[in-house]
Amino acid sequence: MNRIFSGVQPTGDLHLGNYLGAIRNFVGLQADFECIYCVVDMHAITVWQDPKQLAPHTREVAAAFLASGIDPANSIIFNQSQVTAHAELAWVFNCVARMGWLNRMTQFKEKAGNHRENASVGLYVYPNLMAADILAYKATHVPVGEDQKQHLELTRDIAIKFNNDFETDFFPVVEPLIFGEATRVMSLRDGSKKMSKSDPSEYSRINLTDGADDIAGKIRKAKTDPEELPGPDALAEDGIHVDDEAAKARPEAFNLLSIYAALSGQSIAVTLDQFAGAQFSAFKGQLADLSVEKLGPIGAEMQRLMADPGHVDGILHDGAERAAAIAEPVIRDVHEIVGFLR
Ligand code: AMP
Ligand code: TRP
Repeated sequence: MNRIFSGVQPTGDLHLGNYLGAIRNFVGLQADFECIYCVVDMHAITVWQDPKQLAPHTREVAAAFLASGIDPANSIIFNQSQVTAHAELAWVFNCVARMGWLNRMTQFKEKAGNHRENASVGLYVYPNLMAADILAYKATHVPVGEDQKQHLELTRDIAIKFNNDFETDFFPVVEPLIFGEATRVMSLRDGSKKMSKSDPSEYSRINLTDGADDIAGKIRKAKTDPEELPGPDALAEDGIHVDDEAAKARPEAFNLLSIYAALSGQSIAVTLDQFAGAQFSAFKGQLADLSVEKLGPIGAEMQRLMADPGHVDGILHDGAERAAAIAEPVIRDVHEIVGFLR
């Protein structure tokens, strides 16, 4: 049976990249799959989190799930720390994964920067916890943004090594689901950097809770280049994707165009056709209107939900119980496979 699992960290300021790269895709998958969506608070504390902010930030992600259209009556929404299976399986995976594998992880290198000696051990073994999140439910498909591809390859390696070491076919080898026209949304100030919560400039990202004026203002100020907008001749030979060289030459232009494509639900090819030769000023006006139209109601619903923490907490508790009921038998089987005395 197919099962979807994905996670989002409660580190504050959910942005357009999280929405287009991940959360929006979560919504559509509910029709065809059993879905489990997790607010990964244990991942968040691999870097410092203000304890006073962690619970409100957890509710913010849950509110974004709900406001975007995830239905808690069908899908499971919960926060990671309420289900002990994640930490338990992560320990076993700490003993399966190899140091050499973790040493290759680019996200660790980026986040630890020049201060590797000072990074938490949790940040280093973060991908093992992520593998545990997914495999505690024997999930088969994982929708994420492009930046998580390497972590999912590690999850596959862990499942394969566990199965080999213990001569079993217990864990599935998961498939990443990286789709849509904006799998990697870039900063509005610098098309070579990913849109991220850690960027010090508020103008680099559109937050899901931004009001209409902020959204429009950020798009107006977004970096562009002096040329007119590109047209369909920027497409690669497949006629579907933007040519790599073209994209590299004008990263800001193609970032804004992919945001437009993703929000409008049309392909990048149609979008290039629509705006070929246009001035950025006219295009930005339309992008701002579209963004306010699509994101405004989500932001407003998030604000409404965040003002009612009891309601959100109830949904998370209920989700945690349902999640634990799936994960506990898996953990029991793992203990038996590993040989722990019971
Ligand atoms: P995080 O906030 O790091 O927990 O990310 C949550 C989800 O959003 C993951 O699936 C990421 O891949 C996705 N994501 C984060 N930033 C971006 C971005 N700039 N573009 C596309 N997807 C993103
Ligand atoms: N590492 C993911 C991110 O930073 C979040 C995450 C944690 C996750 N566990 C997961 C995503 C399991 C998918 C599946 O975006």
